[in-house]
Parts: sequence; structure tokens; C-alpha cells
Amino acid sequence: MPDIYCPQCKQTLDGTYVCGACGIVYEHRDGILRLTDAPNIAEGADGLEYIGFDTIAADYDDTRYGNPLLLDRLTEVLREMMPPKPLILDLGAGTGIFSVRFAKFAETVYACDISEGMLKLLIAKAESEKIKNIVPIRGNALDLPFPDNMFDIVTAFHVLHLIKDAEKAASEIWRVLKPGGSFLTQTPEFHDAGKSPSSVMDSLYNKLADERKIGLVKSPGWGRDDFLPGLEKVFGNYRAIDDSRLHFDEPDLIARSWRQIGDATRSSQIRIDRNAHDAIMREIEAEMKKQFGEDFLTKKFEHRLSLRVIQSKK
Ligand SMILES: C[S@@+](CC[C@H](N)C(=O)[O-])C[C@H]1O[C@@H](n2cnc3c(N)ncnc32)[C@H](O)[C@@H]1O
Ligand SMILES: [Zn+2]
Repeated sequence: MPDIYCPQCKQTLDGTYVCGACGIVYEHRDGILRLTDAPNIAEGADGLEYIGFDTIAADYDDTRYGNPLLLDRLTEVLREMMPPKPLILDLGAGTGIFSVRFAKFAETVYACDISEGMLKLLIAKAESEKIKNIVPIRGNALDLPFPDNMFDIVTAFHVLHLIKDAEKAASEIWRVLKPGGSFLTQTPEFHDAGKSPSSVMDSLYNKLADERKIGLVKSPGWGRDDFLPGLEKVFGNYRAIDDSRLHFDEPDLIARSWRQIGDATRSSQIRIDRNAHDAIMREIEAEMKKQFGEDFLTKKFEHRLSLRVIQSKK
């Protein structure tokens, strides 16, 4: 039984998944310990059909990140920022793109996510690679089921923009980090904001969808403008990593972003009207050709990641 605690009453759970203090019996089924019932659907505007990560789980890996070599290189850079054999919380672990990579050098990776659909894929991935040191937990970032000062490292990749009360999530991250531990984070908002073809494409989509009120989709959580002030407020200090090793040439980037936008479920929040969506895509295609050339989908573009590294509790 791992070192976790009851999110309800903050007491350490005993080996039977029954809270000795409040009596709640937690379920452990299909390899997932279920410590929250919170829905996996983000909050947004009214009058729209909400979807959530359970629904998009099966398409997630095809439409995100892509190039595994890039992820391997990124993992190497991250590893250099961690102590040997770290105890890691991968928060919003999703399908385990990072968890399985971290597991190869970590002591243990706690993969915590609110979506069971995503966690099932994470488990399948770990099994196919014979990885045994991942603990999958259905848990809520707003109420982390871990004691104070537990982890050497907390990672949250592409997560804090999705959580409405991101400040609460950040203070939970702070709480569970050991003194001297680090929080490593990156959000899609920082991809070469406004400059790279994929972010131009993204902003075009948001602008048109906004104008036509089809409901996409400001991120409910921390966006570009509140991310850094928010982190500063909670963590006091942080270090932004601007590392040349985080600039990647990713040939497939634009085609993948196009697939992600094109399937109309790029947002985990809202189902978008198909016709309105297709009309927007045609306009974006024309604009992209104008700005980046007829062959924009197959061109090679450099991809920059910005990482935020927060040193905690010195
Ligand atoms: C965009 S995915 C990122 C997954 C993974 N970190 C990656 O980079 O591929 C965001 C994940 O955050 C999870 N998530 C959203 N809100 C959450 C919350 N309140 N607590 C825990 N996980 C949450 C979603 O279920 C989803 O799997
Ligand atoms: Zn309890």
C-alpha cells in the first residue's frame, strides 16, 4: 500500500483502502485506486455539450505531441533537473506519455489523473513496457491524496490551463513537495506564443470560434497572462528554463496540430458543431497558406518548448 491519504479527512490510509478515520472505503479496481468522484469534465460556458478526457482518451496520443524522439530528448533534459531515483508525482498524467518515461529512472511514479479513461491507457502502456513502478491513482489536483512534503518532483504537463482553480492546484503541489523539491511544468500556452505556425493556427481557431459563438474555449485555468503571476504567488520563486536543448525540429508538428484541430475534439471541454467547425477549418487553411506557403502542412518548423521549473521550500 503506497503512502497516500484520505482526501476527505487527510488521514493516512491503511493497507485495506479503508480510511480508519472517516470510514470511507476506496475502490481499487483494474489497477486504479479511486480517490475521487469528481467529474473529468472541465467547466466552461453554458448551453454547450461538454465532453471530457474520458471521451477523448482514445484519440489523445494520435493528436498530441507526436514525435516520440522529441519526448525522449525532453525527458533527458528533465532528468538532469531531478535527483537520482526521484519519487515523482506526475499530476494530470493522462495516457502516461511522461509517466512511463520517468518510470525508467525514478524510484516510483505516482500517476494521478481525474480521468479513468486516460489512466486505463496509461496502464496499458506501462504493461506493454513491463513497467512496474507506476502507481495509477484517480485523484483530483484540487485535493491531492498525499501527505505534505512527500515528493522530490512534481510534474504537470499541459494541465494547469485546464483547472479552473489553478491556484488551489498549485498550492496543493507546493504542499506535497519535499523541502528542496522541484515542480516542473509546461503548458501549451508557451509554445512560441503567437509566432509558430501551430500557435497562429490555434489563435485563428479561437478567434473565429469566439466571433461565431460556437463556444470554444478559453482554457478555464491559467492562461498565458496569469500563469507566471499565479506561480509566483504560490511558489514565491521560480526559474524559467530557456534551454537550447528545448528547441526541436519537429517535422510533423504542423500536420499533427492540424489533425488535433481538425477532429473538433481538440478541446476536452466542448463538442463543437461539425458544420461550423468545417467552415472555420477552410478559412484557416486559406490563411495558413497565405502566411506560410501552399505546402505549410509538410514544411519543417522548429518547435520551442518553454519549461517552468519551480524550486520549492528551500
Ligand atoms: C492535456 S492532458 C495532459 C496529459 C499528460 N500530462 C500529457 O502531457 O500528455 C490533461 C490531463 O489532466 C487531467 N486533469 C484535468 N483536470 C484535472 C484535475 N482536477 N485533477 C487531476 N487531473 C486532471 C485530464 O484528465 C487529462 O488527462
Ligand atoms: Zn477519511
